[in-house]
Amino acid sequence: MDFKHQIAAPAGLAGIDVDALVLVVGERADPALAAPLATLIANAVSEGDLVLKKGKLLYLHQPAGVAARRVVVSVAGDASPKAFKAAVAHGLGALKSSGAKTVGIAAPGATLGAGHAEAAVVAAAEASYVYTHTKPSATPGWMPTAITLFCQRNEARPVKQGLRQGSAVAAGVTMAREFGNRPGNVCTPTWLGQQAKKIGKQFDLEVDVLDRKEIDKLGMGSFLAVAQGSDEPPRFIVARYDGAAKSRAPVVLVGKGITFDTGGISLKPGAEMDEMKFDMCGAASVLGTLAAVASLKARVNLVVLVPTCDNMPSGRAVKPGDVVTSMSGQTIEILNTDAEGRLILCDALTYAERFKPAVVVDVATLTGACVIALGHHHSGLFSADDAVAARMLAASQSALDPCWRMPLDEEYDEALKSNFADMANVGGRPGGAITAAMFLRRYTAKFPWAHLDIAGTAWKSGAHKGATGRPVGLLTHFVLGYAR
Ligand code: BES
Ligand code: MN
Ligand code: ZN
Repeated sequence: MDFKHQIAAPAGLAGIDVDALVLVVGERADPALAAPLATLIANAVSEGDLVLKKGKLLYLHQPAGVAARRVVVSVAGDASPKAFKAAVAHGLGALKSSGAKTVGIAAPGATLGAGHAEAAVVAAAEASYVYTHTKPSATPGWMPTAITLFCQRNEARPVKQGLRQGSAVAAGVTMAREFGNRPGNVCTPTWLGQQAKKIGKQFDLEVDVLDRKEIDKLGMGSFLAVAQGSDEPPRFIVARYDGAAKSRAPVVLVGKGITFDTGGISLKPGAEMDEMKFDMCGAASVLGTLAAVASLKARVNLVVLVPTCDNMPSGRAVKPGDVVTSMSGQTIEILNTDAEGRLILCDALTYAERFKPAVVVDVATLTGACVIALGHHHSGLFSADDAVAARMLAASQSALDPCWRMPLDEEYDEALKSNFADMANVGGRPGGAITAAMFLRRYTAKFPWAHLDIAGTAWKSGAHKGATGRPVGLLTHFVLGYAR
C-alpha cells in the first residue's frame, strides 16, 4: 500500500479525485467547512441520518459536487491523533466491500500534525492485514493501492514526517504480527534466528545467532534449563543497529522468545494451550522494532537480544525443585517450570551488561496475572527508575500504544525466598506480575531498566484470534527518544 500526502487545493473537497474519500469531522463540526457537501451534511444531521457523535458514519454514493465516487463521513470524538485514528479506522472499515482502490482522507477544519498522519497509516495497515501463510485462501477482501492524506500547506512537513514514521511502525507491527501468528511448528527458534538474519541482510545489520554450544559456553544455565526439555534446539539472537557514534551507549531490547509454552513438567491445562504459540510475541516485537528503527535510519544505537526455545515436558526436562546456576552466578530453585519466561530472560539481561547500555527494556508475555490486573488494553510497565518509566509512558501516549506503571517495591522481593538457592522462580499467586518483575530486577543492577509484560496485549483470543503487533509502536517511539 502506497501512502502519501497532498496539499488540498484551494477548491477544497470538490476536486479530490479518488474512488473513496473518508471525511473526518468533529462532534461540533461546522458543516460549512465541508463545502461543497455542506448542505448535504447539514440536512443529514438535521434529519437524523448523521449523528455528530464519535463513531457515527454517513455513507454517500456519488454525491453531487465532488469528484470522489464515494464519501464516508466519519465523526471523531475530538481533535487528537487518537480520535483521528479511530475515525479513520472506522471510515476505512465502511469501505471494505466497496472495492475502492484509491482512497483519500481529509479532515476539513482540523489541524493535522505528525501524530495524526502516523496514526492514519498505522490504522490503515492494521485494518488491511490478513494472515495467509498457512491459509492462502484468506485473500484480503479489500486492499486500497494508494491512500492520500489531504492537508494544508503549513501542515505538509509534519504530515510527511508522520507518514514516514507511520510507515516504518506499521511495517514493524505487521512483521511482529506475522511472526506471532506463525504456528509453533513453523516459528521455531531456528526459524526465528533465520528471520533475524534476514532482517540483518535487509538493513545491513550485524546479526549473530548463537546455538546451544555457544549458549552453554556463556554459562546461561537458566536459559538452557528451559531449553533442555525440547528436541527443538535453542537459539540466542544478538542483533545490532548502529545509527549513532560508537561512543554512544546503546538502547538494548530483550524479547521473550518461547516458541511454544506447554508449561513443561508443570504442564498447562489443555484449554486454549494453542495460544501459547504466541509466547514469542516479545521476541517478535523487538525484531519488528529493530526493523522500524533501522528503516528510519534513526541516529541511535540499538541492540536486540532474543533468547528463544520451546518449553516442553520430556524425560530430559527440568523438574520442579531443580536448582540451576544463571549466567550471573546467582542460583535459582525452579519451583514451577511454567514460570520459564523469567528463566530465559535473566540470562539475556546478564548478557546485556557487556553493551554498557543507556537503558535495557525487556518485553515478555510473562504472566497470566498481568492479564488479570490490566486486561487487554494496557501493557504492564515495571521500572524502579522514574526517568525511564516517564519516557516509556510518554512513548506509549505518542504511539497510541498504552502501558500502565505497576509497583516494584523491595517489599515484594520477600516472595522469592528459597531455602535451596539464591531465589525461587515463583512467588505465589498474590501480585504474580509484580513478583515476576522482581525476579528480573535481580539481574538489572548494572543499568537503567524497564520491563513490559505484554501477556494481555500481544494477541487477541476468540473470533479475532491473532497477534496484535504490540508493543512495536511503543518501543519504536521509546527508542527514537534516545536518538540525537
Ligand atoms: N507464557 C505464560 C504467561 C501467560 C499465560 C501469558 C496466559 C498469557 C496468557 C508464562 O510462561 C506462564 O506460564 N506464567 C505463569 C507463571 C506462574 C507459574 C507463576 C502464569 O502466569 O500462570
Ligand atoms: Mn509458562
Ligand atoms: Zn511463557
